[in-house]
Amino acid sequence: MRPWQRRPMPEFGAACRGEFLLDPEIAHLNHGSFGATPRAVMESAERWRRRMEADTTGFVRGVWPEAVAAARTAMAAFVNGDPAGLVLVENATQGANAVLRSLDFVPGDEIVFTTHGYRAVTRTIEHVCRMTGAIPKVAELPAAAIDPDIVVETVGRAISPRTRLVVADHITSPTALVLPVARLVALARDHGVPILIDGAHAPGQVDLDLAALGADFYVGNAHKWLFACKGAAFLSVAPRWRDRIHPGTISHGYGKGLAEEFDWIGTRDVGAWLSLADALAFGARYGWAAIRAHNDALCARAAACLVSAYGTRASGPASMRGHLAAVMLPVDRTAEEATALALYAALFARHRVRAPVMAFDGRLWVRVSAQIYNDVGQYERLAAVDWSRL
Ligand SMILES: Cc1ncc(COP(=O)(O)O)c(C=O)c1O
Repeated sequence: MRPWQRRPMPEFGAACRGEFLLDPEIAHLNHGSFGATPRAVMESAERWRRRMEADTTGFVRGVWPEAVAAARTAMAAFVNGDPAGLVLVENATQGANAVLRSLDFVPGDEIVFTTHGYRAVTRTIEHVCRMTGAIPKVAELPAAAIDPDIVVETVGRAISPRTRLVVADHITSPTALVLPVARLVALARDHGVPILIDGAHAPGQVDLDLAALGADFYVGNAHKWLFACKGAAFLSVAPRWRDRIHPGTISHGYGKGLAEEFDWIGTRDVGAWLSLADALAFGARYGWAAIRAHNDALCARAAACLVSAYGTRASGPASMRGHLAAVMLPVDRTAEEATALALYAALFARHRVRAPVMAFDGRLWVRVSAQIYNDVGQYERLAAVDWSRL
């Protein structure tokens, strides 16, 4: 028996796939990018929408404020955040934008980020730098030969007396690595520099304790690993920054504090935020620790299966892996975005497997996710793909 074929976990895998709306013909190995919402949570969101439509004015004036406050409080409790400093946003990109576009940078200030950063956030940093004269300063992290010490040392070397903000991912998107964020927060604090942790993938995937982490700013998605509907995410802000951070959309609550500013940014869909408690209840039904243990183990088996079949390697050490793994492809083609996109499209067209292909650090990688509805057979399907013929 091969290592990734041991230990089946009966309540997960195909047994719970019916809880989701996933197309049974597709091996859905890309939970990481956009999540997958259970039927029960979709139905909860729909109930909230119908409730609003029954009396929109009464709902907005009488129900919305308390319902959003309850969703915020539930979210804060889940990540041990301070409910007074945690607001709901629609996605991690929006939360990171709120921070980056609220801080006052002046020409010559530096914003440190890493080569593993999510591109939309890196673009935001570039935009803010263009608007203010600040300088984007990238810490170049390797993909393969990486460990937590290398991450801390490399980010540390990029910090200078002109650094005004450090931005680092909790779990990286292209390379699927859990970064040593507690050490990065301590590093930033030692330099007297604020830090924004982009935790888009972290809630649900790792056991989050925002109070213990103590980052100045933390953004996280609920619609990735917490089973929420698309459009549910949060931004947590440390006390000393709370009167300086504003949403990208300024509305009636301007100047009235974080909660009032972020709770109402104009008329919008209520479903994702207000069904958040039911998303958390869905996970609690299986047990968050059990989900994490299952997904970690399945991801380890998936990585081992792919590495063995392709004769390549995974990004980083296993100790930096959560529910995502990036494995180098056995193809001798130029590592360009166009090639990656062509391979991704061919993979789906010929094999009905959804897994992103990325060009990174001069190599091509496929990234897989492990969520409760996945099983080993789906990664074996990917392992059997002859990439040289795609
Ligand atoms: C590290 C990171 N940051 C931000 C995002 C953006 O998330 P969203 O599309 O929910 O804003 C992602 C999405 O995959 C990500 O991986």
